[in-house]
Amino acid sequence: MTTNARVALVSPKCNAIYFRPLCRADEGLILQAANHLSPKSLYLRFCVGTPRIPDHYISLLNSIISGSGVVVGAFLAGGSLVGWAELVNTSSQKADMGILVVDPWQGQGIGGQLLENVMETAARQGMETVTADVLQENERAIRLLVSRKGIARHKSEGLINFHISVGQ
Ligand SMILES: CC(C)(COP(=O)(O)OP(=O)(O)OC[C@H]1O[C@@H](n2cnc3c(N)ncnc32)[C@H](O)[C@@H]1OP(=O)(O)O)[C@@H](O)C(=O)NCCC(=O)NCCS
Repeated sequence: MTTNARVALVSPKCNAIYFRPLCRADEGLILQAANHLSPKSLYLRFCVGTPRIPDHYISLLNSIISGSGVVVGAFLAGGSLVGWAELVNTSSQKADMGILVVDPWQGQGIGGQLLENVMETAARQGMETVTADVLQENERAIRLLVSRKGIARHKSEGLINFHISVGQ
């Protein structure tokens, strides 16, 4: 584990979870983590049935990591990646967020900590708003997002479009 990682959570499985930005060397970890995603989680994340993480999304993550964007990762002490959240800048003061936790580690607070981390990152980058589109049937993601202050949402075509004010 790198020295700038921080422990922000001890899960109910009594595992410490570390959070740090992903770097280029982590691509292999993303592919390993992808082996632990169920078809349902893939569907909920990508809003379409897909047998695996789409190649274009891996390319997107790599371009964010290589560029000025941020992907925050959640790691076990042994170094395995168990979740991540990315911010894709859509304008100078807006970014779109995606968030994913691998199935064996869902429901233990990791998604909540990833959300906190990306919102802190957005604040440091001077963002005003973070958006996220979630399927209307994605109850866990909706519960997670509505737990934050400064949320506005509206429904459109099977999705809920969230607008989260940064710094609230
Ligand atoms: C949605 C997802 C990212 C959530 O991550 P997670 O680690 O499973 O979620 P958490 O454990 O942090 O939160 C789970 C619970 O804590 C609650 N919670 C988390 N933070 C909270 C807070 N600050 N206040 C109140 N409740 C909170 C949530 O409402 C949720 O309730 P539940 O256990 O009854 O479902 C994860 O389940 C996932 O990857 N799902 C598949 C992909 C997906 O849907 N991505 C989102 C669309 S981009």
